[in-house]
Amino acid sequence: VFYPVILAGGSGERFWPLSRRAKPKQFLTLDTSGESLLQATARRLSGINGSLDNLYVITSGEYRSQVLDQLPDLSIENLIVEPVARDTAPAVLYAALRIAQHDPNGVMGVFPADHRITDTQGFHRVIERARHAAEMYDSLVTLGITPTFPSTGYGYIENGDRVEDGEFPINTVTCFREKPDRGTAEEFLQQGHYCWNSGMFVWKVDSILNAYRELQPPMYQALSEALQSRGKVREVFPALEKISIDYAILERAKNVQIIPANFGWDDLGDWNALERLLRGVGSNVAVGRHVGLDTDGAILYTTNSDDLIATIGLEDVVVIRTPDITLVVRKDRTQDIKQVVKRLKEHP
Ligand code: GDD
Ligand code: MG
Repeated sequence: VFYPVILAGGSGERFWPLSRRAKPKQFLTLDTSGESLLQATARRLSGINGSLDNLYVITSGEYRSQVLDQLPDLSIENLIVEPVARDTAPAVLYAALRIAQHDPNGVMGVFPADHRITDTQGFHRVIERARHAAEMYDSLVTLGITPTFPSTGYGYIENGDRVEDGEFPINTVTCFREKPDRGTAEEFLQQGHYCWNSGMFVWKVDSILNAYRELQPPMYQALSEALQSRGKVREVFPALEKISIDYAILERAKNVQIIPANFGWDDLGDWNALERLLRGVGSNVAVGRHVGLDTDGAILYTTNSDDLIATIGLEDVVVIRTPDITLVVRKDRTQDIKQVVKRLKEHP
């Protein structure tokens, strides 16, 4: 049986000030579909099994009710709640342990809630292939995306030997590097056999639990023991190391495989994504009213569609207007929004 798990507990800081602590990006509707990113992800995944029955969502306590509001068909047993957010490594381990309790032979897929995919059928075929690889080789299967620019916001995966040919080939992985610096990212791009890590993974529950046991023994031991007795999870979770699965497992594991695939994937990682999302509207992208004089390559967003933004003589700038916060940032500095959020946390 295949169990897709949606990771929906991030704080989406790079989409500040639209994405706020109380309502992070996965719960927002960023395009014109009327669906939030989480709802779109769930719908896409429900197409694999034909229903939401085996779909799990993992989030932290503060977002529990928003998930239930947005996904009324999700059964309550399939909503896993972490007492506190400790990044994706503890979250994935918790989900794997919970699934193992009733189906230790299951295959599990991990899916971020902040992606856009335009070719759903292609995506489903790749997942099918990944399930095959995971079962056949007991491997940790990653879905790789052909990189188009030296992003420092993604993980990079180096393709190794061919394991299986086909429409979607399966390769070994020689190196996994999470979020390299600019220079390294440029080198990876030049070498040509690197893919971006899509952040989507498929593996047998058994394989991923073995990987944690071997590579993150304290985390594995603390959480698996806590699961034996009710109430214990709440106690141990805050003490687990705060680390993403990319650093904790994928950079270190040996049995990683990759399926390079293209299904119209886009990570809605920061404000620049809006330009790709709404492409074709002209040289500027505006949600809300905009009057631009000699303005080029601007990304503008107002939460109130009656609000007007006027710009003069600007290039490659992002202006975001919410009722209480206005952000103005150069396009190439949007990754640094996190630092503003951090400063505001320290000195509100
Ligand atoms: N449940 C839970 N708990 N979910 C979390 C937590 C947590 O503590 N932290 C983050 N998430 C969720 C986010 O909501 C998102 O859906 C997903 O996990 C990935 O987290 P991000 O914070 O968006 O990661 P990233 O974008 O910086 O990097 C990852 O994705 C890239 C592709 O989009 C990495 O896997 C990169 O290697 C990858 O290239
Ligand atoms: Mg992300």
